[in-house]
Amino acid sequence: MVFMINIFQPALGEDELAAVRDVFQSNWIGMGQYVDEFCKAFATHLNRSPNHFLATTSCSEGIFLSAYLFGFDSSSEIIAPAISFVAVGNTIISSGARLVLCDVDRFTCNATAKFIAEKITSKTKAVILNHYGGVPCNMDPIIELCKAHDIVVIEDSACAIKSYYKGRACGTIGDMGVWSFGPTKTICTGDGGMIYLKAEDQIPVARERLYHGLPARKNSGTDSASSGDKQWWEIRINRFGLRATMNNIAGALGVVQLTKLNDFIERRRAIFDLYSSELSHLDWLRLPPKLKEECSSSYYFFHVQLTKRDELAAFLLDNGIYSTFRYWPLHKIKAFGIRGANLPNSEYISQHTLNLPLHQSLTDAEVGRVIDAVKRFGKLRY
Ligand SMILES: Cc1ncc(COP(=O)(O)O)c(C=O)c1O
Repeated sequence: MVFMINIFQPALGEDELAAVRDVFQSNWIGMGQYVDEFCKAFATHLNRSPNHFLATTSCSEGIFLSAYLFGFDSSSEIIAPAISFVAVGNTIISSGARLVLCDVDRFTCNATAKFIAEKITSKTKAVILNHYGGVPCNMDPIIELCKAHDIVVIEDSACAIKSYYKGRACGTIGDMGVWSFGPTKTICTGDGGMIYLKAEDQIPVARERLYHGLPARKNSGTDSASSGDKQWWEIRINRFGLRATMNNIAGALGVVQLTKLNDFIERRRAIFDLYSSELSHLDWLRLPPKLKEECSSSYYFFHVQLTKRDELAAFLLDNGIYSTFRYWPLHKIKAFGIRGANLPNSEYISQHTLNLPLHQSLTDAEVGRVIDAVKRFGKLRY
């Protein structure tokens, strides 16, 4: 029997089960010490102070939080690359701000300073970048541009957990960064997200916003009383808030997964290299551009570009291989109401790009099956 090859897949096993068992035994599965531990470990792996980090339920929640923290409203315009995750559009539109899409590089699928600059007006408040597939955007010119125009830089680093630009970790270069630990991401906590805020004093505000607006406690805490509170059931809120806090199960999974991150990335790199060397001679197929020397990648996507994209996707599916295209451009999502978009590269990408299976649990034999299927397709159709 031939098994379907997944495009993305979590790598969870006995170590993670043991960590979850610990949480069960602690009798407190809500937010608490395991979440704190994960936050600290995450900050440490980036060589940063934990005071800038906050865990949440998903990366999308972090993106939504950006609108609150930086005050998006009907007077603001927010720039995002057309090739962005849907949460970016939802965040901007639902805040009342205007969603302004910029084009991206045709091959890296990343926004550039040039494309962002074309969209800046006196109303531009922020730009939400996406490091596509873990390849860092060219940050220096973007940061310089945004500084000159007093524009907030938010980095959607959902796919860029181990990506560096000139020695700086993606997600910590701008004013805010967000990572995802969802079911398809390199490290998986079921669902989960991490937030980085450059301004430390935004952390208590963010913490309150993500937990009913309740005054932030130093320790992310449990539902327990402290001896100083006489009537600990009284409620005071500092702001209107949500309920978007990571729980201890996710936190415990994150702690364990983080210890394996380097190995995961190493395996992903090996698969990426195998695809690159085996497919590079196919003149009908464009491979991802070579990584710039000053960058390192999380190797989250392996995207190829070709004229018969849809046919290749169908052929792979018929051969038990699941592929997809990320990300359907925001200007093509009707509900976002973008009219007259002139985004030729994003348009090109949406018609020609396919993401091949890439995750750390793929065996060499499975990678070989994908490579073989792509080559067979070429012989049949080109
Ligand atoms: C680039 C990007 N941003 C944001 C997200 C949202 O992550 P989450 O599922 O944790 O909300 C994803 C998830 O696929 C993503 O790929």
